[in-house]
Amino acid sequence: MTPGAATDVDDDTVPSMRPRPAPALRPLRVAPRTPRRPPEQHAVDADAAEQFLRLVHAEAPGAAPPEHRIAAVREEIDRTGTYVHTGAELAFGARVAWRNSARCIGRLYWRSLHVRDRRHVTAPDQVAAECVAHLRESTRRGRVRSTVTVLAPDAPDAPGPRIWNEQLVRYAGHTPVSEHGTEEIVGDPRYVGFTETARSLGWLPPAPPGRFDVLPLVVSGGGEHAARTPRWFEVPADAVLEVALSHPDHAWFADLGLRWHAVPAISNMRLDIGGVSYPAAPFNGWYMSTEIGARNFADADRYDLLREVAHGLGLDTANDRTMWRDRAAVELTLAVQHSFDAAGVTVADHHGESLRFLRHLEREEAAGRSCPVDWSWIVPPISGGLTPVFHRYYDPPTDSGPMFRLDPQATARGRGCPFGG
Ligand code: ARG
Repeated sequence: MTPGAATDVDDDTVPSMRPRPAPALRPLRVAPRTPRRPPEQHAVDADAAEQFLRLVHAEAPGAAPPEHRIAAVREEIDRTGTYVHTGAELAFGARVAWRNSARCIGRLYWRSLHVRDRRHVTAPDQVAAECVAHLRESTRRGRVRSTVTVLAPDAPDAPGPRIWNEQLVRYAGHTPVSEHGTEEIVGDPRYVGFTETARSLGWLPPAPPGRFDVLPLVVSGGGEHAARTPRWFEVPADAVLEVALSHPDHAWFADLGLRWHAVPAISNMRLDIGGVSYPAAPFNGWYMSTEIGARNFADADRYDLLREVAHGLGLDTANDRTMWRDRAAVELTLAVQHSFDAAGVTVADHHGESLRFLRHLEREEAAGRSCPVDWSWIVPPISGGLTPVFHRYYDPPTDSGPMFRLDPQATARGRGCPFGG
């Protein structure tokens, strides 16, 4: 993909070219100092707003009846096409969006989400600076804190900013040509496309290319800063805590030279609250060791390290029935957990996190709420049946209420192919 192909504006936010209705046959009513109402199709859905405000009220016992706020918001939407959440509404909405995340096993602490309200920010350099500040505030030298930073929303007349990266910290996938003329991927194969995009924008990868080179942030501005071409920003090294991996029983493991970043911060999902959409709202929790050991390092289309680890362990890799893959995945995950623990960096394990999740389910049931769950994401990628979350059914994911969502355009940008190619 070339920089010229880059776009800062999603199809879903471009003001449509649909012709305006013909003027009515009556004198124009002049409404001085009232902003012109934006076209209907881009106005916030007032019913979604009302539904959200009623939820705020229902979950805040003792709160004033919501009728007054609902009427004010309806009037605001009528006049401007959107409305501005109060700080309390924003924080509640973001927390409930986490509570509604059907794929997240770590939801027990949804009320404790730290919300950074940065709704005034639209300029690309300020967006990047907020991403870096987010990393620093959530990392806390390893005492990882669940945090969301909410940047400017999409407005009827202008899009909010967009962060192209899937996560604030990810490793480049380089494709240098070897002496034999073959391309070998160095780094994370998932980000070969994104790395290419960053390079086409002018980013220079470190030389020689490494397996764990932190990618730059790629940002499109919002509002008056909306432009066709996104900008890139290096993430300062001192904002990225990483853990070097070793194994509690195998000294050779450290020689593999593996490392991983401490904070998983998803940055390309939009946060929808009561009809208002925040396209840039990076959020993080903390890692569960299986995500790194049994997926990022194990998946055939990621670092694909099972064979190498199995060789280190002295396993027979010629025959699947020795279960060398299974054994290597467990040892890799153990190494992740051991190394994070030794470095004082928050990390969950799949046994403890499963029990906490069952506690969350009980609490939600006691509160009279249904808890949406996607079984295939909740069950850990190793030892599924050894955890209690495996052995039951759940309420299906829902599509209403405050929610983190992933647009197809955002998926494509995150993989470096903004048109899905
Ligand atoms: N699985 C993703 C990764 O390895 C992170 C997803 C979010 N995980 C979390 N624990 N909050 O990077």
